[in-house]
Amino acid sequence: MNILLTLFFILLVWLIIDFINKNKKKNNEPNGPWALPLIGNLHLLGNSPQISLRDLSIKYGGIYKIWLGDHPTFVVTDPNLIKSIWIKNNSNFINRPHNKSFSIFSNNFKGISFVDKDEWKVTRRLVSHAFTKTKIKIISNVLDKQTKKIIEEMDKFEKSNSTYYIYKDIRTFSMNIMLDIVYSKEIKPQDIVLSKCIDNCHCITNAMAAGNIGDVLSIFSPISNLSKSNTQFKKQMDEIRSYVNNLYDDLKQTLNPENPRNLFDQMIIASDNNDYKDSIVQAGIDFLIAGTDTVSNTTEWFLIYMANNPEIQDKAFNELMNAVENNQGQYITINEKSKTPYLNCIIKEVMRIRPVVPLGLPRETLVDTTVDGYFFPKGTRLLQNVYGMCNNESFVSDHNEFKPERFLLSGDGVNNLDKIVIPFSVGPRNCVGEPLASHEIYLLFSNILMNFKVRPIDGITTIDTTEVFGLTLYPKDPLPIKLTSRKQ
Ligand code: HEM
Repeated sequence: MNILLTLFFILLVWLIIDFINKNKKKNNEPNGPWALPLIGNLHLLGNSPQISLRDLSIKYGGIYKIWLGDHPTFVVTDPNLIKSIWIKNNSNFINRPHNKSFSIFSNNFKGISFVDKDEWKVTRRLVSHAFTKTKIKIISNVLDKQTKKIIEEMDKFEKSNSTYYIYKDIRTFSMNIMLDIVYSKEIKPQDIVLSKCIDNCHCITNAMAAGNIGDVLSIFSPISNLSKSNTQFKKQMDEIRSYVNNLYDDLKQTLNPENPRNLFDQMIIASDNNDYKDSIVQAGIDFLIAGTDTVSNTTEWFLIYMANNPEIQDKAFNELMNAVENNQGQYITINEKSKTPYLNCIIKEVMRIRPVVPLGLPRETLVDTTVDGYFFPKGTRLLQNVYGMCNNESFVSDHNEFKPERFLLSGDGVNNLDKIVIPFSVGPRNCVGEPLASHEIYLLFSNILMNFKVRPIDGITTIDTTEVFGLTLYPKDPLPIKLTSRKQ
């Protein structure tokens, strides 16, 4: 009994000290809600952390402090502060937190997405070169080939008059683009690992979402290691890693340094040393995962908002027809982009209303730093409140309404929304795939609109736009739509 009482007393004292420590106001740190001992503010996140964090920004302002379990975290919603942190002072905020999920994903912080500053600089320089706008033009044949393929698949469905679920096709499309560019590969039905990888993508990005207990509460880390979802996550990562390791070996054996065939070849040539194998393999995995779920989810949101807004679809279709001089059914290329301002606004509005990476990828403060009067102690984590900016009446009026025209430039050619809607983030460690993703999305969306009317299955119901939170934001239910050919 005495032992139990002593343990209870120790726990109580520990909880009180933890409560005091968490809520001690330090000079020039941002305000925030009261934090509970142990869990901090995890209880405030609820099922939709993107909405809770947006609501907290309305209460506490453009930067506030919360505790995600053991970790002090600043949530930044003010566009000027985002510029100061992510662009002007980027080198002090360049690393990502070292949590359990990121470690499992990145083979202990290798590759590009989760690697630390010094190695990141080398890898990023190499891959940025491969993804510049000019290089993307060279690989645009890959994008055209995959776009034509998915439009053909959609055409088959339209003719069969059945309900279309795009989930699998859209993931095959975006993953094939990454496979082709990185390894000159394509998913074949017999590629069991890759076909499985499509289904696993969701689980993997969910496993890495902000606020996962095992990542933020070290006390629960041993238990979470044994949990079913964690074991499954590790297994999925091992399968992908062993597959990509084999690809590396095959490509290395047949490599001609004078004639690189793909991004992997370029990285192998640049590394010129086997010690980098694990890093190159991990960078390949990073591209595969980062490039699949993001583009796929954005496309699903696009189809939902198109199905719910037929008049917006018709307007974009007419604009496309004008751009190709009424040549119905013509394949739309990237050259048409400058002639379709309204469609370009639709794309921005989809990425505003449902930004698929709702909190960006987290960063960590490298050394004690003061920015715009706020003190960021070393080790503080940072979340960019992407969703909270895009869906906030202070920045975007009627934010719940889908209104592409809000992006049309004002008379002086300035549009402040471009500072607020930053789905790819900003600064030197922003999304390296932005030029590729933007090109992919334009080709796909324009060619879908050119070929089909997209409608809810019964033609009238409004499709539910509720989002589910993860590292990426996706629609609540698998998306059934009806396609009707535009060809007369
Ligand atoms: C709709 C599409 C996409 C969106 C909204 C998106 C968004 C983002 C965001 C918000 C970040 C975090 C940036 C930061 O920390 O400041 C990021 C990082 C990254 N993205 Fe994307 N992304 C998209 C597509 C892609 C594609 C197609 C690729 C493939 C090349 C890709 C590869 C990456 C990589 C490798 C990183 C890590 C960059 C680094 O740490 O240096 N993304 N992305």
